Formats: sequence, C-alpha cells, structure tokens
Amino acid sequence: MARNLTQLELLLELEPIAEQNVDRHLSMAKTWHPHDYVPWDEGRNFAAMGGLDWEPGQSRLGEVARAAMITNLLTEDNLPSYHREISENFSQDGAWGTWVGRWTAEENRHGIVIRDYLVVTRAVDPVALERARMAHMTNGYSAMKLVRESGRASAADLADTGFLHSVAYVTFQELATRVSHRNTGKVCDDPVADRMLQRIAADENLHMIFYRNLCGAALDLAPDQALQAISDIVRYFQMPGAGMPDWRRNGVLMAKHGIYDLRQHLEEVVMPVLRKWNVFDRNDFTARGDRIRNELGEFLEKLGQDCVKFEEQRDRALAREARKRELVSAKG
Ligand SMILES: [Fe+2]
Ligand SMILES: [Fe+2]
Repeated sequence: MARNLTQLELLLELEPIAEQNVDRHLSMAKTWHPHDYVPWDEGRNFAAMGGLDWEPGQSRLGEVARAAMITNLLTEDNLPSYHREISENFSQDGAWGTWVGRWTAEENRHGIVIRDYLVVTRAVDPVALERARMAHMTNGYSAMKLVRESGRASAADLADTGFLHSVAYVTFQELATRVSHRNTGKVCDDPVADRMLQRIAADENLHMIFYRNLCGAALDLAPDQALQAISDIVRYFQMPGAGMPDWRRNGVLMAKHGIYDLRQHLEEVVMPVLRKWNVFDRNDFTARGDRIRNELGEFLEKLGQDCVKFEEQRDRALAREARKRELVSAKG
C-alpha cells in the first residue's frame, strides 16, 4: 500500500499548482466595491439617533428571502473561523500565503455588502441580526468539529484530517454558497438585492475553481489519500449554517423553497465536482481507493433516494399550507 504523503509533502508538491492558480485567479477576479451595491438613499436613522427603530412592517423582503439572507450573512460573518481552518492547513509561505490573504479579503466584502444592504433597506431586524452574529461567531465554526459531533463519522475516518480535508470541504462549500446566494437573489423580488447576490456568487465561483483545481491536483498526486478526504467530506458534509441560531427553521425554509435543498446539493454541487475530478472513471486508484470509491458510490445512491423522499414530504407540506391559505382567504 502506498504510504500517505505528509502535510508538508503535499504542500511542497502542490505549491507550483497553487502559484498557477493564484495567477489565474488574480487575472480573472473583478474589482468591485460594496458601496456600489447598496441603495443608500433609503437609509434612515434608528431611535438612538433620533429616528425610528426597526419593525417588521418596514421589510420588503418575504419570509423566505429574509431567512436566506440572514443565513447567508451569518455564514459570511463567520469568516474568522474559515480563515483559521484554511490558514492552519495551508502554508503561510509563497503562493499559499498569498492565496489565504487574498481569499480572506475577498470574502470579507461579502459580509460587508450584505449587512449594509440589510440595514439600509431595513430588510431584517438589526438587533436580532447582531445577536445572532455574536452567538454564531462566538461558537465559531469547524467543518470537522461538526462532523465529529454529529457522531456519524468513525474515529478512523477522522484520524488523518488536514490539508486534503480542508481543500475538499471548501471546494463543495464555495459551490454551495454560490448556489445559495444565486437562489436567494431570485426570491428577493428586488433587483438591487439580486444584482448584489449575483456579484457575490461570481466571486464564490472563482473561489470554488481555485480549490477544485488544487484538490484535483492532489487527487493526481496521491489518488487514494485524496479520495479518502473527498469521500469523508461528501459523506459527512454539513452546510456552514449548521449550528447557527434558528438554523433548523431557516434551513428548512430554504430547502422547502428551492434555495438550497438536497437535490440541489447532490446535482448542482456534489456531482459536477466529482465528475470534474473524474472520480468514477479514473484508473489510478489501488485496491484501497477502489474500496473508498465503492463506498462513495453507495452513499450517493442513497442520497439520490433521500432526495425523492424529501421532495415527497415537501410537496405534501406545501400542499397543506396552500389549503390552509385557501381556507383562511375563503373565511376572510
Ligand atoms: Fe463569501
Ligand atoms: Fe467564497
């Protein structure tokens, strides 16, 4: 059995690919300014400065759009946790260090612009939002910690986590946030919000490509070892929203209304990336890699069945709600 490469060996071997991809990213990334995406003329003082505090009637966003915006923003707010995870597992030197700094700075823009938009347009309760940010950031976020706490992964699966697990996780996570931002834009019914979220989603796509290319190169370099990390992440993936205040309610609303549900996760996030890495057609795995690939295949099949179950439940719930609304309007 081929031995696993150490963290240092992985980083050294992949440094030239990191450099190429940093250059690629810098040549494609567009400079944009958060202030250009916020309708400042809608802003008003709050009570502490002689104005009016927030009340629900001021929001022009619907319930689903609000839940999605809050979830997306709290995810962006938790950047220090993601920075930690990436900077601990990537190197501070050379192209790795350049990437970690640049990526962190770009991500920070997302939280800035969404918060400015929500506060200026009074789309959500700014006090509740601040409370949720404090709670969520104080808790911090660690993909692997959530996996450990879920009790779903075996100790053996999680014994050797580091660069490969990180880069696999962020590949899927960047694509998941792209899908979530794009679909949130669509339900806002506000061209200003849609334009802002499309801008952010374009950034997330470039981030995803960086990580996907690095993880793809890792798969070429150490096929079995990289596939183990990819398979762990796919099997135990949790959205970054997991663990945030009101996650259950907001996550369900988002899934129910097509912002991020299981089928989107499978068909728009997991499968396109696995296909890009050619996971199911490559022939450079040893028996160990083949075994991992089979387990992954079984898991994906089960996920496909879960999608159908979820959709049946969702359709029944939506039909019940529609009937309830009809009854209420008939009475009124
Ligand atoms: Fe982001
Ligand atoms: Fe991103």
